[in-house]
Amino acid sequence: NKITVSVIKADVGGLCGHTLAPEDLLEACEGVLEEAVDELIIDYYVTRCGDDVDLIMTHKMGVDNEKIHKLAWNAFEEATKIAKELKLYGAGQDLLAECFSGNVRGLGPGCAEMEFVERPSEPIVVFCCDKTDPAAFNLPLYKIFADPFNTAGLVFDPSMTSGFAFEVHDVIGSKKVILNTPEETYSLLALIGDVERYAIKRVYRRRDNEIAAVVSTEKLNYIAGEYVGKDDPVAVVRAQSGFPAVGEILEPFANPHFVAGWMRGSHWGPLMPVGEEDATPSRFDGPARIMALGFQLADGMLIGPNDLFADKGFDKAREKALEMADIIRRMGPFQPHRLPSGMMEYTTVPKVLEKLKDRFEPLDDEPKKLEKCRDRGDVE
Ligand code: 13P
Ligand code: 13P
Ligand code: MG
Ligand code: MG
Ligand code: MG
Repeated sequence: NKITVSVIKADVGGLCGHTLAPEDLLEACEGVLEEAVDELIIDYYVTRCGDDVDLIMTHKMGVDNEKIHKLAWNAFEEATKIAKELKLYGAGQDLLAECFSGNVRGLGPGCAEMEFVERPSEPIVVFCCDKTDPAAFNLPLYKIFADPFNTAGLVFDPSMTSGFAFEVHDVIGSKKVILNTPEETYSLLALIGDVERYAIKRVYRRRDNEIAAVVSTEKLNYIAGEYVGKDDPVAVVRAQSGFPAVGEILEPFANPHFVAGWMRGSHWGPLMPVGEEDATPSRFDGPARIMALGFQLADGMLIGPNDLFADKGFDKAREKALEMADIIRRMGPFQPHRLPSGMMEYTTVPKVLEKLKDRFEPLDDEPKKLEKCRDRGDVE
């Protein structure tokens, strides 16, 4: 009697450039998922954030199930056919493999999945982003599950006072570690504050090891030896009754933080919370967006969504994000607007440098100079 929530996303083409996945693509995906209702899945909701198409599905097949992943792959392939017909920009962008094999991980699409016994009332929040990467969730997930100034329930709710456990992935070293809060808070922050290397994958409630949150942390997937992905991420978070309240889950986004992504996946910029209608990043291909869709599960049926960031309560957060955007945009191609080279998504800077390579000359040889001075007795 366990239910699985699978959110699988891919960018299969934009209208125009990288700005928006048009309705035609969502319809193509819905057509494929509709066919699978009752046979494979219980229910589904298809949406988009910017140029990323998000498939929200419920079923009883567990996480990492080959049939469910194949279904999502098929939906994205159908949408890609339309994208190619319409000559959308980057048609099939995130379908990196020629064909499906086993599960979508490593093939391009991002996925966040969790399996649990549905509670008498099971509120969940599905986050969908564009123009940023999975480590964008490090700061808000810390606040939601470990900061009592954000989440009153950590202080007030006896089922939460034993804290939460964070599964952190070292996406460069391909390793993972589980850290317990509150007692390992400082170690956790030492890792997840480094968003280049570490990304939170899952959060568990320590009292009973129940899954509380999951992120599509497929950052830095090396495919054919090449760094290909800063996948625009998705996440699922369970709410209420022993988990943070819906409002506690949304609260970190009231104060926008800087995330990696934006233009050419190569810049820092604010993460702006928006309703579905406003998930249309266009200024400098951004700034990065996040939407929050609230559902109640009813025997696996997705009741909703409630478009949570459409609330007027987030108007000021949007204003703040736009101010932050103005400030950091002034830096143009200079750090800290520009990302450090290691974090750039598909940078062509090495090609620029290649052109200049014959024009580089060695610097004056400082150590040798020093030696000469030493010989003359000028320095010790
Ligand atoms: P209501 O009184 O509106 O049900 O809210 C309860 C609550 O816990 C809000 O976080
Ligand atoms: P996407 O990752 O959303 O396709 O954006 C890429 C990009 O180059 C934006 O400028
Ligand atoms: Mg794109
Ligand atoms: Mg995108
Ligand atoms: Mg991207």
